[in-house]
Amino acid sequence: MSDRSDAIVLFGASGDLAKKMLFPALVQLARDDLLPGRVIGVAASDWDDAELREYARQSIVEYGDGDPDSPAAIRLLSVLSYLRGDYRRSDTFVHLSERLDGAELPLLYLAVPPSLFASVVAGVVGVGLHEHSRLVVEKPFGRDLDGARQLNKTVLASFPEEAVFRIDHYLGKEEVLDLLVFRLANTVLEPVWNRNYIDSVQITMSESFGVDGRGRFYEEVGALRDVVQNHLLQVLSLVAMEPPIAADARALRDEKVKVLRAVRALEPSDLVRGQFTGYRDEEGVAGDSDVETYVALRLSIDSWRWAGVPFYIRTGKHLPVTATEVLIEFKQPPQMFFADADAPPHPNHLLFRLKPGEQVTLGMQINEAGEQLRSRNIDLTYEYSQEHEGPRQLAYARLFQEAMDGEQRLFARADGVEAAWRIVDRVLTEHPPAHAYGQGTWGPPAADDLITCDGGWHNPPARNAR
Ligand code: BG6
Repeated sequence: MSDRSDAIVLFGASGDLAKKMLFPALVQLARDDLLPGRVIGVAASDWDDAELREYARQSIVEYGDGDPDSPAAIRLLSVLSYLRGDYRRSDTFVHLSERLDGAELPLLYLAVPPSLFASVVAGVVGVGLHEHSRLVVEKPFGRDLDGARQLNKTVLASFPEEAVFRIDHYLGKEEVLDLLVFRLANTVLEPVWNRNYIDSVQITMSESFGVDGRGRFYEEVGALRDVVQNHLLQVLSLVAMEPPIAADARALRDEKVKVLRAVRALEPSDLVRGQFTGYRDEEGVAGDSDVETYVALRLSIDSWRWAGVPFYIRTGKHLPVTATEVLIEFKQPPQMFFADADAPPHPNHLLFRLKPGEQVTLGMQINEAGEQLRSRNIDLTYEYSQEHEGPRQLAYARLFQEAMDGEQRLFARADGVEAAWRIVDRVLTEHPPAHAYGQGTWGPPAADDLITCDGGWHNPPARNAR
């Protein structure tokens, strides 16, 4: 028996996630000859195989490579079948189990709302499928620390941790993995990667669009739950963790959890919340909603490496550009012999532009041309697109592939998810009210006060925005 899953079950196959992310990713797997022999879509919609295939075709046209007649797309459609079922009824799982007869380590993908997780797990357990399956769980993994603990308990009562794959699609992004490699593959960084040389760290994820018809979902979530507790704290953990003793799942995840546990739990004075004007007019949004569509945070890490170094995170909808960046600001040299008094030099910095147009920039000082000895700022930039030909692997394709191989390093572990919830748990409910901010601005001015003492926010330039 191989360790590879040879069937995928998509619970929630008629949903948004399947359409926007999962079918396009499965086509990439088909293109790379990695698609398993069976992909079974399960959902409550009154569909048959042909309707699911049509849905997948539309998904490829709208969100995939656009060609539903490519050999890869045809291959996917040929292995796709549909099972209509109610997750609360045991016969759904009896039928599923029949369909999976002979399958090795089927990958059970929960692309369903969290409220249905427990029902699906109970159904799967009812027919004994859990004994030889892998479980993929989509975010949001709980609504708070307590909810995450409950969910972990439910899942781990039936599945061993080695069979559970908690998705955070940021961990499947090549750009995020590039950051990890850049950090750990360059000797020159390690000696300066600490409080002695680094002044502050900023992580910005700005989006120029709004909630895109997801008002109802957003009302339940807000920016903190939607992208900070998961995606951005994952990015922070890769920047701040200790070098692992190996590149395997256990070693990597041990270090990530360790650093998340060292992050001080947020207090209300550590964050500024904002809401774009017009949010309350979105469908599904309360007229007096205080849900944040923007949040800026100051985090502290109580470790020898990072004591005293502030980590700032901010994210928001309807900001001027769509961009994700990590900025490492180094300290000024102890003496600035060559500085121009009228134009003080920018301290050294490393800027990881994750999107759009992935690049890494090292900000340095050189001597200005001319007779005087005077330093000026220059940027040394490497653009990853220089080496990439054709489309990059989709995050979800990578995650499918790793989960089918039983490789867990790109998935969140139970203790890691809980460690991240612990950081935000208090301020999910105890927080200052959201300030209004205009669409197309960089959020509420109060967020600037949070970081003034560290030189202000670095706003990604508009020229690179999509
Ligand atoms: C999702 C959030 O998890 O991540 C969205 O629900 C957000 O609100 C998205 O826009 C951002 O992901 P990406 O891959 O576009 O950076």
